[in-house]
Amino acid sequence: MAKKAKPKVKYLSLNGKVVPWAEANIHILSPAMKYAANVFEGIRGYWNADEKQMYIFRLEEHLRRLQFSMKVMRYDESFSVAYLQDCIIDLIRANKLRQNTYIRLFAYVDEPDGGMSAGAPVGLAIAATPRGPRGEPGKGMNCQVSSWLRLPETSMPPRIKCVANYYNSRLAWAQARLDGYDNAILMTQKGTVSEGPGACLFIVRNGVPVTSSLTSDILESITRDTVIQLCAEYFELDAVQRDIGRTELYAAEEAFYAGTGHEILPISSIDRMAVGTGDIGPLTQKVMDTYAELVEGAIPDHPEWRTPVYDK
Ligand SMILES: Cc1ncc(COP(=O)(O)O)c(C=O)c1O
Repeated sequence: MAKKAKPKVKYLSLNGKVVPWAEANIHILSPAMKYAANVFEGIRGYWNADEKQMYIFRLEEHLRRLQFSMKVMRYDESFSVAYLQDCIIDLIRANKLRQNTYIRLFAYVDEPDGGMSAGAPVGLAIAATPRGPRGEPGKGMNCQVSSWLRLPETSMPPRIKCVANYYNSRLAWAQARLDGYDNAILMTQKGTVSEGPGACLFIVRNGVPVTSSLTSDILESITRDTVIQLCAEYFELDAVQRDIGRTELYAAEEAFYAGTGHEILPISSIDRMAVGTGDIGPLTQKVMDTYAELVEGAIPDHPEWRTPVYDK
């Protein structure tokens, strides 16, 4: 039998209330379970030890995307940004988290044995748990171009975070792992590069950062947007958003994933071909460093991107 996961924190948040871990349950016959009628957000909070403060990175943008996901899923109800923000901050404070934290919000259709129709009540669950970086420090990922294609906008909405989309990601990720790679890159149905299973992708060509356009069946990633802005502001580089061909992945000098969970994660090989020298590239390293300083508030720019959790 699988081992029971040990709770990492005492409390979760359910429908606006902080509740003990074991009490945050939903009915097995809710549409969230039966039809994956469930949208979510993944957000990071960063602990700034000097200031003894946690900063949640680009919280408002994440909460607006959750509202957008709820709209596209045709939920009847929504939650205000202020309400969601209060629920998150109450939960982090209740768990007394003073370390880097991952915040996951779910908004799901919650009606025991409910059907597919609109109008059912929407539940809200939040978890905030300690979380470090992905990958091994100083090492890049070895990636496989997946034979699973990214789900197209004609069938499912890749622009939102509905839980059902993640089976597409999971298939690509599982295939890559079973084939001996660390992670996957998914292509669109038209054969251009889309994104990773849980992060967008950047390559560097002739010193210029390039990322798949917003019509490449990608999630409208907040980290992707941050990278585009920081390349312009700190390195005077205008990132190009366009179609990327598969063989450009092999021609790239550098490549990295960008996402809230992945943060800036270098890629060292694709389909067993080294990306550039196979080491972390110079622009990738600069983006990683600047991103790390920005999220923590070590660089004071963009204070609007950091929401403090604790009262001073
Ligand atoms: C499919 C997918 N693409 C891209 C991203 C990156 O988005 P963001 O930077 O907003 O976290 C994520 C992660 O959340 C994702 O799940």
